[in-house]
Order: sequence, then C-alpha cells, then structure tokens
Amino acid sequence: MKLLILSGPNLNMLGKREPGIYGHLTLDELLAGLRQEFTAHLLDHVQSNIEGDLVTAIQQADGKYDGIIINAGAYTHTSVAIADAIASVKIPAVEVHLSNIFSREDYRHVSYLGARCAGSISGFGIESYRLAIRYFSERKA
Ligand code: DQA
Repeated sequence: MKLLILSGPNLNMLGKREPGIYGHLTLDELLAGLRQEFTAHLLDHVQSNIEGDLVTAIQQADGKYDGIIINAGAYTHTSVAIADAIASVKIPAVEVHLSNIFSREDYRHVSYLGARCAGSISGFGIESYRLAIRYFSERKA
C-alpha cells in the first residue's frame, strides 16, 4: 500500500518545538520509526510550511497513493483551501495530530479538514500516525 504522509507548518521543528506538547522525536525520527514498523507499506512524506504546497501535494497524490495521512498543523484550524483539496480527490485522507487539539486553546478545537476526512485521530503522539496507518491497512484487507 502506498500512503502519503503530509506535514504542515512548523512540524519540521519537531524535537525542538514545545517538547512538553509535541514530544522529543524529530520529524525524521518519527518517519523512520513508522517506516521501520510498517515495512509492508510505502510511506512517502512531504512537509511544507506553505499552504499551497500542501494543496498541490494532495492534488498530485490522487491516483498515485491509496490514501493520505495529514497533519496540517495550524492550517487545520484555518484552511478552506486544504479542506477543498481533500474533498476534490478520490483517495481518502485521515487527519492526525500529535497533541489533543480538544484539550488545548479554543481556536484549536475547530478543524476545517475533519469533515472532509475519513476520520480524525488526535492526542496520541506518534501513535496517532500508527492508528491512521492501521486504518488504511485494515480497510484494504
Ligand atoms: C498539531 C496541532 C495544531 O494545533 C498545531 O498548530 C500544530 C500541531 C498537532 O500535531 O498536535 O502545528 O497539528
């Protein structure tokens, strides 16, 4: 199975960024851990701090991947463009967050993407990504 993991703004700062909230793993370490565990799957990754890059990556993933796992970072709470991109492609997306967005500031309680995704997983650190990959594995089986 081919999955595209998309990381939005500031996720390139993982490891250094607010470790009390996001943990000590860098983005590269997080991806390496997932690839080591899920050897049966191709896990491609794109990180961008730019909204339009994420829109383009979603558009280009259609027909090329079986699904998208997206942590859009702060764009989760603001981006109609990313929500529209997810709705415009045939492949399913799962929204993931390292932190529990519902136990944080009010402005993080709203996700523009959630309604366009097959589901949302929030608050389990790297486990949020593992659960998303398992969803795709079982869906396909
Ligand atoms: C995040 C939560 C967002 O609110 C925040 O802006 C992020 C990371 C998470 O993974 O917990 O950048 O998506």
